[in-house]
Amino acid sequence: KIYQASTTAPVNIAVVKYWGKRDAKLNLPTNSSVSVTLSQKDLRTHTTAACSAAFPSEDTLLLNGSPQDVSGARTQACFRELRALRSALEAQDSSLPKLAALPLRIVSENNFPTAAGLASSAAGFAALVRAIANLYELPSSPTDLSRIARQGSGSACRSLFGGYVAWQMGNEVDGSDSVAVEVAPASHWPTMRALILVVSAEKKGVSSTSGMQITVATSELFQRRAEVVVPKHMELMEKAIKEKDFETFAKVTMMESNSFHATCLDTYPPIFYLNDVSRAAIRAVEDINAAAGKTIAAYTFDAGPNAVIYFEEKDLDAVAGPLKSALSGLDGWQAAEREIKVQGLD
Ligand code: DP6
Repeated sequence: KIYQASTTAPVNIAVVKYWGKRDAKLNLPTNSSVSVTLSQKDLRTHTTAACSAAFPSEDTLLLNGSPQDVSGARTQACFRELRALRSALEAQDSSLPKLAALPLRIVSENNFPTAAGLASSAAGFAALVRAIANLYELPSSPTDLSRIARQGSGSACRSLFGGYVAWQMGNEVDGSDSVAVEVAPASHWPTMRALILVVSAEKKGVSSTSGMQITVATSELFQRRAEVVVPKHMELMEKAIKEKDFETFAKVTMMESNSFHATCLDTYPPIFYLNDVSRAAIRAVEDINAAAGKTIAAYTFDAGPNAVIYFEEKDLDAVAGPLKSALSGLDGWQAAEREIKVQGLD
């Protein structure tokens, strides 16, 4: 007999950035963060988790058809936590099939190119954790699952919710309060849109995991960011989302991205994620806002040169047209922009 369950998880793009771990093993961050969940029609991971006594004894994971190494500490931590919860259920109810002891077979597909450097580990670990939780019929809430997904990849904890999501850094040493919570559902602010500008599909130079470790070890600017800048941005951002105040949302989003990339530059040796096309996108957004006489677009960049531009639906023409004409002549620009909605939980 084969037991199985499937799920999908969306990509999220942070507007207040997670950068820095206070505990690398439990994946506990040095600051809280906020993200916007993107539509699963455009960007998502679909995962099926199966288990059976008939499977070979090793756990396996296939991503877009290629076998992945599951022996890493992060994947193992997710498997271990989920199995422990299932074992506890089986111990309480002896009529349940003994699934925790069976080998797992996980099959994942992204509906976007993994190489494009879009937040694939976030959707990937969120889908993996929920697929196994569904398979094991765990009575876990999204926040419970976020505590587990966080150990796979920090940003993954925010992909267990739709809409606008905060990852509260927490204070406990065991990480029990470092979880994701909903700030507002997608329906609260349904006019929010995102454009993804694929500047380069090349694999990024420095991974976020190692980049943030070097930042914590070497940057003094980082201290100030974690202790002063981010707490201020968290407060402003949550308020802006609750009040649907786009100008504040946009301004904090851009200043956050700039603060994060300044911290990367202050890392030694310095980390450069932005390139000439990224900087041209920043200038184009500045020009668009200047022409509008108010802030109608916001850029943000993660650990790579691709830009995500947030704007409101009514401003699509004022934002997308000028962006495209500003960037279309540039080398390395892939013109792969798409308008993406904010996603609710299915
Ligand atoms: C710049 O979640 O990829 O995208 O926890 O080491 O897997 P690990 O890091 P990851 O870092 C994401 C960093 C970021 C900002 C963000 O998404 O908040």
